[in-house]
Amino acid sequence: MRKKIVAGNWKMNNTLEEGKKLTSEVINIVADELTDDVQVILGTPAIHLDSVGKLLKDAPKVALSAQNCSEHAAGAYTGEISAKMLTSVGAEYVILGHSERREYFNESNEQLAKKVDIALENGLTPIFCCGEALEIREAGTQNEYVCQQLTESLFHLSEEDFKKIVIAYEPIWAIGTGKTASAAQAQEMHAAIRAHLTSKYGAAAEETSILYGGSCKPSNANEIFAGKDVDGGLIGGASLAARDFVEIAKSF
Ligand code: 13P
Repeated sequence: MRKKIVAGNWKMNNTLEEGKKLTSEVINIVADELTDDVQVILGTPAIHLDSVGKLLKDAPKVALSAQNCSEHAAGAYTGEISAKMLTSVGAEYVILGHSERREYFNESNEQLAKKVDIALENGLTPIFCCGEALEIREAGTQNEYVCQQLTESLFHLSEEDFKKIVIAYEPIWAIGTGKTASAAQAQEMHAAIRAHLTSKYGAAAEETSILYGGSCKPSNANEIFAGKDVDGGLIGGASLAARDFVEIAKSF
């Protein structure tokens, strides 16, 4: 059975104190209200990971994620953070290839392939993001575009490593815009992604969790998560309020 996952991506928000408070609130609501079959993940800024990780030690239902890692193992890369450092503070997941990193930090499919490798080597589960810009959606070439992102960053993986990957489909035009993809658009793309993964990895792709991201809220999560290839969400803005975030996690 595919894992149901709701992951928060805090992006560059929250001071350490705010992040700790939000974490405690999420832990409490999850413990009281969430069933065991949903994996909740908090994707915090790197500087919060150690403190948030300590709070999560006694909260087995909530896991810790970083938002990026270097493609290099160690060395003279000022300001960068290695996959090994992330595991050393308790991160289990790392978001890779978010469209904001692709756009503002010029991350390429090739570079992301290296980040995926080093994350896996260090025991991190990549949450690999893909998704098209509005012009591509308007040109009707979104499936080819997204499949190419997956091919170039993931298709070098062995089946054993591929099985560890979580995918997040985030149409760029829906991120932070309040304009969500319709449930039908999300399901259609998720099915195309799964078919593409199946063409390479066969039955293993049936077990891959594919999350939707882009203006996901308590009011629309239920409809979006009803898609048969939609296994949860990667949540930006709504993950900054504990109640909204956990309501989304309760929307299966
Ligand atoms: P929003 O939920 O704020 O649209 O952000 C989505 C996202 O980019 C999560 O990674």
